[in-house]
Amino acid sequence: MATCPSDCCDGTFDQMKPCKQMTTTVLDSCLPLPLPVEVLTEIIPKAKDFALLHGAAMRYKSNFDPDSLKMAPFFLLPSAFPRREFDRVVKLQPLINVLMHRIAHNHEFLESSLKKTVNVDDFTARLWKIYTTVREEGVSQEMSLGLVRSDVMLTKCHAGCCELCQTPPYVTGHQVEVNTIASGFGHMGPISGSIHRYILGELRKPELLHHLPENDALAGLCSGMISAWEVYSCPKAVILFVIEDVTYNICDQRFHEYEIRRQRPDVHVIRRNLTQISKTGHLTDDKRLMIDGNEIAVVYFRAGYEPAQYHSEAEWEARLTIERSRAIKSPSIQYQLAGTKKVQQEIARPDVLKQFLSDSEAELVGQLFTGLYSLDLGPEGDRAVQMAMENPERFVLKPQREGGGNNVYGAEIKEVLEKIKDSAEREAYILMDRIRPPIQENYLVRPYEPVRLVEVVSELGIFGVILGTNKDIMINKFSGHMLRTKLSSVNEGGVAAGLGALDSVFLFD
Ligand SMILES: Nc1ncnc2c1ncn2[C@@H]1O[C@H](COP(=O)(O)OP(=O)(O)OP(=O)(O)O)[C@@H](O)[C@H]1O
Ligand SMILES: [Mg+2]
Repeated sequence: MATCPSDCCDGTFDQMKPCKQMTTTVLDSCLPLPLPVEVLTEIIPKAKDFALLHGAAMRYKSNFDPDSLKMAPFFLLPSAFPRREFDRVVKLQPLINVLMHRIAHNHEFLESSLKKTVNVDDFTARLWKIYTTVREEGVSQEMSLGLVRSDVMLTKCHAGCCELCQTPPYVTGHQVEVNTIASGFGHMGPISGSIHRYILGELRKPELLHHLPENDALAGLCSGMISAWEVYSCPKAVILFVIEDVTYNICDQRFHEYEIRRQRPDVHVIRRNLTQISKTGHLTDDKRLMIDGNEIAVVYFRAGYEPAQYHSEAEWEARLTIERSRAIKSPSIQYQLAGTKKVQQEIARPDVLKQFLSDSEAELVGQLFTGLYSLDLGPEGDRAVQMAMENPERFVLKPQREGGGNNVYGAEIKEVLEKIKDSAEREAYILMDRIRPPIQENYLVRPYEPVRLVEVVSELGIFGVILGTNKDIMINKFSGHMLRTKLSSVNEGGVAAGLGALDSVFLFD
């Protein structure tokens, strides 16, 4: 039995049966819980050691120390996830890749989607300026590398409306968003599965291992970068990782480097932040990007998605230099714009998908979407504002930001909208239906804390790799997955923030 978190009913409810208003379901854990104390006492130190020794670790946020790491928070057991929905979103990933690729290359659509946003959101305006500058000067590199991650949460539809939510397991996957820049956890995703394989083995449950799917995220993402490097066709050129000033999620990034080296020992990676690039990066006459004597073939952005990463004009200049160059960018600036929340909301308008996909493809992708609403000034936006003010618990209010911790939930939605509802400032936001994922139980393992049995919800990230030009797509593939799980009581569950933790999927039929 579990407690309904959505305030829609007053009691508890049974496994797999929706609560009274059908907004929340409960999934069975992969093993009967709680585990006996003696089992926990034995397994937890083993699990912690396995995690640490396989790079499920991070740098300390407080007292940053380059000489040590701490274990990343993780869940002791894999979380139940319906196989039907896992297979569905995996199969859809190549279509999501193509959709993002075509949107990134459709100037009219980007312009009409973002024209109001750029008037009120300075960060998007600066990205837009770089995009239009490069477009007007003439693009030096037609090829883009998309390393995208489509984030999905299971939900019980409010209305019990569709075939998917009316048949067992009564939940369906809805897309939270598609990330087109710095889509992390290509290492943490697969390694979480390895932790769980080890734990199920140690618990003497090898018969359960087939419920854990293969996960080649790291190899797939890195082979995408190597393919782009090969297309650039200059054996001495290197791959540049654009990084934050301080990288806490260091294992995830470094393992990408190590995997590139494993697959292609002749390919080198260098790491620089935007400030460093502003000092030593420059273009040759034929637009080759040079940094400290290295020619750059591929730029992989693990930073550059939030305003704080551009300290001054120098960092913006560095970004412009990169975009002007012949290096293949992941993402190129138009891909980053295609991944904004505003564009996501515009894509979800009726019939828009059909501009980019065939009717049958559009129907399949459209089933992933939940309600997304424009807050632009005018009658349509007014209706959305009113809806959100009347029922804030039903929605999430989103600004054009990445990296977590920026969205607005619950009563605060009313406060924010009250302040901005009569001004164009509201056009910097979009409104989205709040997804209510099914709850299950799991043990949260965090450094320096006792292990706790908690109620949790999960978010699945599906990776995709796409490499091509406007006219020609060379590579388009699904590329593994990751699962982040958080306490059911919190709005957002950043792993570094400590509210979320690494997890992997336990598929059930
Ligand atoms: N519609 C929604 N319903 C429920 N939870 C949501 C919804 N949208 C976002 N969230 C929660 O907020 C988190 C961050 O949201 P979102 O992905 O839109 O923002 P972000 O800043 O781009 O995050 P990320 O760094 O993961 O890309 C999600 O991982 C999820 O936990
Ligand atoms: Mg995001």
